Amino acid sequence: MTASAALQALQARAPFVPDLAIVLGSGLGALADSAEARAGVSIPFTDLPGFPAPTVAGHGGKLVFCEFEGRKVVLQAGRFHFYEGHPMSLVVTPMRLYGRLGAKAVLLTNAAGALNPEFGVGELMALTDHINLFGTNPLIGPNVEPGPRFPDMTAVYDPAFRQRLAACAAGLGQTLRQGVYLGLTGPSYETPAEIRAFRVLGADAVGMSTVPEAIVARHEGMRVAGISCLCNMAAGILPQALTHQEVLEAGAAAAGRFEALVRAFVRDLQL
Ligand code: HPA
Repeated sequence: MTASAALQALQARAPFVPDLAIVLGSGLGALADSAEARAGVSIPFTDLPGFPAPTVAGHGGKLVFCEFEGRKVVLQAGRFHFYEGHPMSLVVTPMRLYGRLGAKAVLLTNAAGALNPEFGVGELMALTDHINLFGTNPLIGPNVEPGPRFPDMTAVYDPAFRQRLAACAAGLGQTLRQGVYLGLTGPSYETPAEIRAFRVLGADAVGMSTVPEAIVARHEGMRVAGISCLCNMAAGILPQALTHQEVLEAGAAAAGRFEALVRAFVRDLQL
C-alpha cells in the first residue's frame, strides 16, 4: 500500500532518522519556512508515491528534515484530512512513515473550537485525551505488524510530555489549558445542539484532525503530544455564526506564542 513505496522514496532522501515529527496545524505553518527549515531537506508530498496532488495550487504539503532547537526533526506542513475525501489509510500514512523511519515521538498540532466556557479564543490547549467521533478507526483492516491488534489507548498523550508542555508554558508566562479533544469528520461545523451534547460527553475542544493520527502513532509505538490552538468558541457558545476566516485570524494571532511553546518543548526534550 501507499506507505511502503513512499517509505522507500523517503528513506532515499531523508538525511537522518528524525527523533521527532511535528505536524504543523493552522497557525504553525510558517515554521516550515523558518531559517532552520530552509537549511534542511525539503521533500514535497508530490515526490512521495501514493500521495495525491494538492487540490489548491500553491498549497502542496511537504516534509522538511532539519535541525530544530538542537534536535533532528521532520516538520510536516500540510496534512490529509478525512473531510477532503481521502481514505483513512492516507490520512495516517505520515504516521506510518515516521514510525518506520524510526522516529520516537510525534507532536500533533491543530486548530480547534473551544467547548469549555472557561477557555478563551487564542489560547493553547495541551491534549490530555481524545474522543473519537470520526465514525471509523484508522486501524480497521488487516493489522499492520508489529503493532498490536487491540492497542491500549489509556494514555495516548504522553503524561511526561504533558508535564513538560505545562512547565514550558509556565516558563514562557503563557496560559496553557489542558483538555479533551473531540475529533469528528467535518467539514461542516457542529450545531449548537451537538456542542451541548459534546460538553456532556466531556469534551473541551472539537476539531477535524489529530485523532486518527494519534491512534496510528501509538500503534507505531511512538510517544504522542498534542496541542490545539483554540481559534473560536464552538457553535452556539457565542451568539454569532462561525466562519473559517475567524479561525484563520485567531490562528495567525496565536502563531508567535504557539511557535515559542513548540520551540521550548523541543529544546532539551528527553526521548
Ligand atoms: N469545530 C470543528 N473544527 C474546528 C473548529 C470548530 O469549531 N474550529 C477549528 N477547527
